[in-house]
Amino acid sequence: MVVCACAIAAAGALVVIAPQLNFTARATPSWLETRLAGYVLRRAVRNHAAAQPNPLPATAENIKAGEHEYLEHCAVCHAPDGSARDLLGADFFPPIARLARGAPSWSDGELYYIIANGIRYTGMPGFGQRHDPGEIWKMILWIRHLPHLTAQEKAELNQRGECMPQHEQHSPAPLSYFSRGKRLA
Ligand code: HEC
Repeated sequence: MVVCACAIAAAGALVVIAPQLNFTARATPSWLETRLAGYVLRRAVRNHAAAQPNPLPATAENIKAGEHEYLEHCAVCHAPDGSARDLLGADFFPPIARLARGAPSWSDGELYYIIANGIRYTGMPGFGQRHDPGEIWKMILWIRHLPHLTAQEKAELNQRGECMPQHEQHSPAPLSYFSRGKRLA
């Protein structure tokens, strides 16, 4: 009975207090909110993602196909080289994740889950409805390849970045909800 009353009081307080919080993308949320949201999102991904390794081999052909998909759908936010340098001239919260380190904290199945389904209440869209699994697995091969870019690949990607819309302002070092306050790259 007491537990029940406490739960109702807590839910009531949440309904009253939560709308008072500042949910704009430009505000820096409190330490508690960031930790809590980061914890919930990480756990949700880990609970739902399949423990499946990438079924596709990391052949040059598959990685190239992944790069092609990535440049088409992801580079506008994550930047061609995964550095998340500001191409949009806008502020995100949580900030766009830097994939330049290949997202080492996620397994293949978890990356697949994130890319296919997106992450609600962040800017990360879901691609699973309009892309077949093979395309997503190839993009994951490319993301894993990002930390090992050769000098020539970097130069080519930078050239592509130059061709994309440029803005003078650069966003602050991105901190993903998932990164527990650590820089991703
Ligand atoms: C409109 C901008 C946008 C686009 C387009 C976008 N992303 Fe994201 N992505 C984000 C944001 C913002 C986050 C950070 C979410 C968070 O921290 O909760 C993110 C997070 C991620 C993550 C989780 C990495 C981590 O450790 O936090 C992966 C993996 C990812 N994106 C891959 C992709 C891929 C692959 C594509 C293209 C198919 C893509 N994204 C397209 C904005 C975008």
